[in-house]
Parts: sequence; C-alpha cells; structure tokens
Amino acid sequence: MTLTADAAATPAAETRQPILQAKNLVKTYGRVVGLDGVSLSLYPGEVLAIIGDNGAGKSTLIKCLTGAELADEGEILLDGRPVHFKRPQDAHLAGIETVYQTLAVSPARDVASNLFLGREERRKGILGSVFRMVDKKGMRKKARQQLADLGITTLQDVTVPVENLSGGQRQAVAVARAAAFGSKVVVLDEPTAALGVRESNQVLQLVKNLRDRGIPVILISHNMPHVFEVADRIHIQRLGKCATTITPQSHSMTDAVAIMTGARKA
Ligand SMILES: Nc1ncnc2c1ncn2[C@@H]1O[C@H](COP(=O)(O)OP(=O)(O)OP(=O)(O)O)[C@@H](O)[C@H]1O
Ligand SMILES: [Mg+2]
Repeated sequence: MTLTADAAATPAAETRQPILQAKNLVKTYGRVVGLDGVSLSLYPGEVLAIIGDNGAGKSTLIKCLTGAELADEGEILLDGRPVHFKRPQDAHLAGIETVYQTLAVSPARDVASNLFLGREERRKGILGSVFRMVDKKGMRKKARQQLADLGITTLQDVTVPVENLSGGQRQAVAVARAAAFGSKVVVLDEPTAALGVRESNQVLQLVKNLRDRGIPVILISHNMPHVFEVADRIHIQRLGKCATTITPQSHSMTDAVAIMTGARKA
C-alpha cells in the first residue's frame, strides 16, 4: 500500500504514536502473493477494522502481526520499537492478545479457569508454593469482578463449564480474557461470524468497552453493519494490498464494498 492511504488516519490520531505499526509487509506462499507491501497503524484507544474480499490478505496480515507467520519483508513496530515475533507466544508475551473464533477457550473448564488459563493464581503460603494448589476461590472472585467491569451481565455463574455456554458467551469469555491481563492490543478475527443478533451485539459492546478502557482493537469482519458500528477507521484490503483506509464518517457502506470489490477506485 502507499503511505497516503495509511495517512487517512483521523487528524487527532496522526499526531500520536501508533501502538502497533506494520511497514511494507510482504508475504508470499510460493507463487501466491498473500501480502504485497502492506502498512498499517493502530493508534491508542481506537477500533481499526480490516475488511476485504476472500483471499484479500486479511488473515495473512493478522498472522504476520501476531507471530503466526513470518513476513518475508517489512517491519513491525510495537510502541515505536521494532519487534520480531517468531511465534504467537512472542506476540502474546508482548501484550498482543489474538482471539480466534474456535480456539479461544478450553471447553471442559469453567469460566473462571478459562479467564486464568495459563496464568493460574496459587494459594498463599506452602499450599501454593510447594503443593502448587490453585486459588480457585480467589480466581472466581476476580473473574466475577472482571466480567462485571466489562459489562458482561449474561455470565454470572463463573463455575459453569464453557462447553455449556452459547457461542456468544464463549466469545465473551475469550474477549474478557484478552481484556483481563493488561493487554496492549486485542485482535479479533471474525468474532461475530457464527453468532446470533443478541450475541453479536454483546461482542460488539465488549469491543467498545475495550476501547473505552484504552485498549485498541483490530477487528476483522465481513459484516459491514458491525464494522460501521464499532470501527473508528477501516483498512480495506484488496488483492494483497491496502486499497485505502477510510472512516465511517468519510464513506458509506456502499462505498466500502465498491472499493473492496474493485468496482470503484479508492
Ligand atoms: N498457508 C498458505 N499457503 C498458501 N497460500 C496461502 C496460505 N495462506 C494464505 N494463502 C493465500 O494468500 C492469499 C491471502 O489469504 P488470506 O487467508 O490472508 O485471505 P483473507 O483475506 O483472510 O480471506 P478470507 O476472507 O477468505 O478469510 C490467498 O490467495 C490465499 O490463498
Ligand atoms: Mg481470513
């Protein structure tokens, strides 16, 4: 993409340093070009949507940003400093939480355990330090607080196994987990694709709550009304490049789709 497209940031955003930035990423798979020089900036406190047709490079872009793929060329900066993520864990440790639709939660465990998955808190004293006993009661209390803080009201019983929850509630657990541990950036890949109206609204509300708490969100979605409802800026991928970056104020949904499909020049 060109620098002019990336500069379509809101005026306020342009003066700030991006939290996460990609510069001229190139990723090829044999003869297939997944990304053809894509740049992206994510500013503090914004929701950046990524839209584009099938195969436009959205997932590849996210994979390169979150350490799931290694770009052939280009640079990734976190807080202005170059980073070289070799695996998703590297990005995770740096504060980038990626929430996938299916792999987000551990179904047999309860809600509280899922929120603390991989970060279990131990009991005080010898029970925790020597016997490695987890502080279930403490984690449940914190889990309830975390869900209440995020305005998740449909999930009051944190002792229910996640497999008994609806799709939207599971997604809510995944997003809550991302928000719970001081993440710098939350990346959501098609979070509402399989959800009903009420569940989708719940996830969209969570995205807004994250933004209000100062955590910027990258949201990949094919759902234009969802994108236009929550996004501050919209990065349009087309044929491996960023066609342009627009805002819900500057363009209509029809405009966005026309640019996405190539019916209209950006
Ligand atoms: N592992 C891979 N091996 C070969 N080609 C790949 C691989 N991953 C992606 N591609 C190709 O790179 C291009 C971009 O794919 P990508 O998955 O990023 O698209 P997308 O925008 O996420 O599409 P969708 O909306 O269908 O999810 C496509 O042409 C795809 O076939
Ligand atoms: Mg994809």
